[in-house]
Amino acid sequence: MGRLDGKKAFITGGAQGLGRCFAEMFAAEGASVAITDVQGDAVQNTAEEINQKHPGKAFAFTHDVTSKEEWETSLAGAADAMGGISVLVNNAGIGGALANIETETWEMYRKVMDIDLDAIFVGTQLAMPYLKDNQPGSIINISSIAGVRADGNFLSYNVAKAGVRMISKSIALHCARAGYQITCNSIHPVFTRTAIIEPMTLMTGSQEDGEAKLARQIPMKRIGEPSDIGYMAIYLASDESKFITGGEFMADGGMTAR
Ligand SMILES: NC(=O)c1ccc[n+]([C@@H]2O[C@H](COP(=O)([O-])OP(=O)(O)OC[C@H]3O[C@@H](n4cnc5c(N)ncnc54)[C@H](O)[C@@H]3O)[C@@H](O)[C@H]2O)c1
Repeated sequence: MGRLDGKKAFITGGAQGLGRCFAEMFAAEGASVAITDVQGDAVQNTAEEINQKHPGKAFAFTHDVTSKEEWETSLAGAADAMGGISVLVNNAGIGGALANIETETWEMYRKVMDIDLDAIFVGTQLAMPYLKDNQPGSIINISSIAGVRADGNFLSYNVAKAGVRMISKSIALHCARAGYQITCNSIHPVFTRTAIIEPMTLMTGSQEDGEAKLARQIPMKRIGEPSDIGYMAIYLASDESKFITGGEFMADGGMTAR
């Protein structure tokens, strides 16, 4: 028995990094996974690799989360392929530029909002009918410690990820009041070994030095591995967390405890 047997998960930004790890770990626990990403070839490869280990479990869709039309077609395609959608993981995201209130451009600010925050509104609204038809359901939004701790140089990312924290709580309360068995929670990772932290790690010269510098800021003295976040996502996708909603889950080696 897998912890996610019978679950049908729609995971955005799943070609690489955390989304790919969620898809692999969910499939290993028995879920079907619809993996979507703006990188069409890469997401196709990811699904094929998962299917080599877990035949018939993974389906790939080329999907830009800023496009309402692409949400509509990939949700319909995923529901068709999996026989419904019971878990939505809003994971796709970009880091944007390292910029402050004096240096950030309006164009970059809008881009980060579009991908990291507004897409969650658009996509979750469109996914609700599928989730309602496949209860119990779970919505998992990937925020960041940047959603609860500010930095002068992370202006747009801070604002977007703080919005992800609050949209998750609002969705959770709506679902609870409406009597839906659909939970909604946010996960807040600290620096975790994926492509998104490369602009930060490479600032110091080598990736190794950069990761060591980031690790020194974290009480547990290491950066996260994708599976550290994946285990949290499995829990929130499973029926084990059916009473857990509106929560914000730090996966951060103690970073936000002080
Ligand atoms: N790795 C970290 O340190 C860290 C920490 C906190 C939060 N996060 C969050 O985790 C999530 C996953 O990031 P990651 O670390 O795996 O980075 P990543 O860059 O490896 O993966 C992000 C994925 O999102 C996809 N994507 C980007 N724009 C898209 C769009 N418009 N439509 C569809 N897909 C799009 C990319 O193609 C990529 O596959 C992001 O929301 C990120 O903000 C990451």
